[in-house]
Amino acid sequence: MTSAAGFAVLVLAGCSAGPPGRPAPRPDAGREQMVKEQIEGRGIKDRLTLAALREVPRHEFVPEASAGEAYGDFPLPIGHGQTISQPYIVAFMTEALGLRGGERVLEIGTGSGYQSAVLAKIAGTVYTIEIVPELAEEARERLARLGYRNVSVRAGDGYLGWPEAAPFDAIIVTAAAPRIPEPLKHQLAEGGRLVVPVGDEDQELIVVTRHGSAFDERRVLPVRFVPMTGAVRKE
Ligand SMILES: C[S@@+](CC[C@H](N)C(=O)[O-])C[C@H]1O[C@@H](n2cnc3c(N)ncnc32)[C@H](O)[C@@H]1O
Repeated sequence: MTSAAGFAVLVLAGCSAGPPGRPAPRPDAGREQMVKEQIEGRGIKDRLTLAALREVPRHEFVPEASAGEAYGDFPLPIGHGQTISQPYIVAFMTEALGLRGGERVLEIGTGSGYQSAVLAKIAGTVYTIEIVPELAEEARERLARLGYRNVSVRAGDGYLGWPEAAPFDAIIVTAAAPRIPEPLKHQLAEGGRLVVPVGDEDQELIVVTRHGSAFDERRVLPVRFVPMTGAVRKE
């Protein structure tokens, strides 16, 4: 993953507030630069993904004290020991879902709601589940305040998915599971894709595609995510 090297350099850039006495920069001023350098510059080409990353105000999804770092090349803490993922990873996973517009998408691990907002710009409907109730409530309020009307947030364990809303054209898991969660595979529509980080210390992003009762699996990127908790640990 590219984050290790990019981290130190861009932390410095993220901390530089400009000369004293000048007006503070607009909180979203770094967004275009983020898309150009971190996302397009690393090979993300899908135009729907790029447009969504350009539109979603990432600074609204981080704690106020971190707003000046919202467009940096790293994950940021969001409380409860959790993080908002590095922008490049959000873009990479979104592109890997292969969305063309209008789909039904399930996300496991709402966190701040940023990835949900990116998906909501592209998909028809987004269902998202967060296991930390306080984060689920904050994300629900934030997404409603920012006008994302096609996102439903549920507090709970995402291991069993959202059966009443299945099947999904795409499922994204934003916490690392010890293995691919079986119930999620079976909530994919025909041709649907599941993108999930798998592993403990060494993790890899896996893309699962459903073909009838068969599931094709491709390993696409080494990554580092916070662990998926809950029932997946008892599988
Ligand atoms: C890397 S953070 C999510 C980043 C998030 N997608 C964003 O855009 O801010 C992973 C999230 O997954 C949640 N999580 C972990 N295990 C879960 C589970 N079994 N079901 C639902 N959410 C889970 C964590 O509480 C955490 O908020």
